[in-house]
Amino acid sequence: MHGTIPVGGAKNAALPLMAACLLTDKKMTLSNLPHLMDITTMANLLVHLGVRLSLDGCSEFDGHTGRVIEFDASGVTNTTAPYELVSKMRASVVVLGPLVARLGHAKVSLPGGCAIGPRPINLHLQALEKLGAQITLEHGYIEAKAPKGLKGAEIHFPIVSVGATENAMMAATLAEGTTVIHNAACEPEITDLGQCLNTMGAEISGLDTRTLVIKGKPSLGSTNYAVIADRIEAGTYAIAASITGGDIELTGINESIMGATFEKLLASGTEISKTETGLRFRRKGDILPLDIETAPYPLFATDMQAQFMALLCLAKGTSHLTETIFENRFMHVPELMRMGAKIDVEGNTCTIYGIKAFKDAEVMATDLRASVSLVLAALAAKGETTINRVYHIDRGYESIEEKLGACGAKIGRVRALAT
Ligand code: EPZ
Repeated sequence: MHGTIPVGGAKNAALPLMAACLLTDKKMTLSNLPHLMDITTMANLLVHLGVRLSLDGCSEFDGHTGRVIEFDASGVTNTTAPYELVSKMRASVVVLGPLVARLGHAKVSLPGGCAIGPRPINLHLQALEKLGAQITLEHGYIEAKAPKGLKGAEIHFPIVSVGATENAMMAATLAEGTTVIHNAACEPEITDLGQCLNTMGAEISGLDTRTLVIKGKPSLGSTNYAVIADRIEAGTYAIAASITGGDIELTGINESIMGATFEKLLASGTEISKTETGLRFRRKGDILPLDIETAPYPLFATDMQAQFMALLCLAKGTSHLTETIFENRFMHVPELMRMGAKIDVEGNTCTIYGIKAFKDAEVMATDLRASVSLVLAALAAKGETTINRVYHIDRGYESIEEKLGACGAKIGRVRALAT
C-alpha cells in the first residue's frame, strides 16, 4: 500500500456534537462531519424530534472538507426518541441529557445491547438523577423529567464512561449552579464536545482531565464548529500501511490525539514521521510482538484492539491482547482464524502466535471494528478474501474502498451499498 489518505471527522465526536444542537434555540453549524451511516441515523433522529437541519454538502471550512450541517432546534416539541431509531444506533442515547436539560422532559428507548456487549446506561441515568431529573423506566423507554430545570451536583462515576460523561456534561451546561464530574472520560472526543459547548457560551473547565467543572448557564448560543479528525480511522489506516509493509501518509491528523495507539504502532516496528499535512506510516523490518491491554484514554483504545490483533497475527513472535472495556469484543478471532491466524482466547485475554501470512477465505463481519480488522488481514493475505455483512463497516469508515483503493488495494463491493 503506497499513497495518501485524508482522515475524516471523528464519528465519536460528531454524534454527541450533533445532539448538542438540542441545548440551544440558536443556529448551530457543524463542519468536517464524515459521510457515515451513523451520522445519517443521528440526523434522522434529530429531524424526528423537530430539529430543522440543512445539509450544505461538502465545503472548505477552515481547511476542513467533509459534510457541513446546520441545525436549528428552536422548534423542537417532540421529546421522544423512538425504539426504531434508537435500536439502530445506541449512541442515540446522548439526546437524553440535552432534551431534559433544555425542555424538561425526555423519553428515550432503552438502546439495548449490541454485538460487543450488553452496554447498560445505568451511569447515564444516575448522573441525570444527581442533577435532579426524575427517571422512570416503562415499556422499554426511559423517561426523564425535570419540570423545574436541573440543579448542579457532584457526580462520581465508579467507572469511566464516554457516553455517560457526554450526557452529564451536556445536561450540566444548563443546570442551575455548578456541577463537578469526577472520574470523567477524557477522550479527545469529550474534549472536542466540551470545547464546542464553550463556544456556545457554556463554562466548562478541566477538559482533558478526569475532573470536569461545569458552571450552568440559563441558555446557550450559536456556534460554527469543525469536528476533530478521527483518531480511530487514522490508527486503522496506519495499520493498513504496516500490515502490508507499505508507506501511507494520513493527512488531517496529528500525533497529539493518537494517544497510546502512537506508541504501540512504534513498538510494533512501524516507522512514523511528521509531514507538512499529517503523519507518514511505513514498515520495512519485521512486525514485532506486543502485549496490549485496552483501557480508557489516554491508554490503549478498545476501538483499536481488533485492528492491532490483525497486525499482531503476522508478528515475529507471540503477543497478548487483553480487552478490559467490553465483555464480548473478540468476534473477529474466529474469522481471523479462518484466514490462518493462530489465536488462543482465555477469558478476556488472547494469545496471538505469529504466522507467516494470512490465507484468503470467505469471512463474516460482526461489528464495526471487527469488520475492519478483516479488511486489514485481507490486504495482507495471499489471494482474494470475501467479507460478508460489510454494512457494519459503513457505520464507521467513509468510502473505505476509495481510500484504500487510492493506495493500491484491490477492493470492491460485490453488491450495491446498503441504502
Ligand atoms: C463509546 O461508547 C464509543 N462510542 C465506543 O466506540 C467506544 O468503544 C467506547 O466509548 C469506549 O471508548 C461512541 O462514542 C459513539 P462507555 P460508550 O460508556 O459511550 C460500561 C466504536 O467502535 N457502561 O465508555 O457506549 C460499558 O458497558 C464504538 O466506534 C456501564 O456499565 O462506551 C462498557 O463496558 C464501539 N454503564 C464501559 O462502561 C453505563 O451507563 C465503557 O463504556 C455506561 C457504560
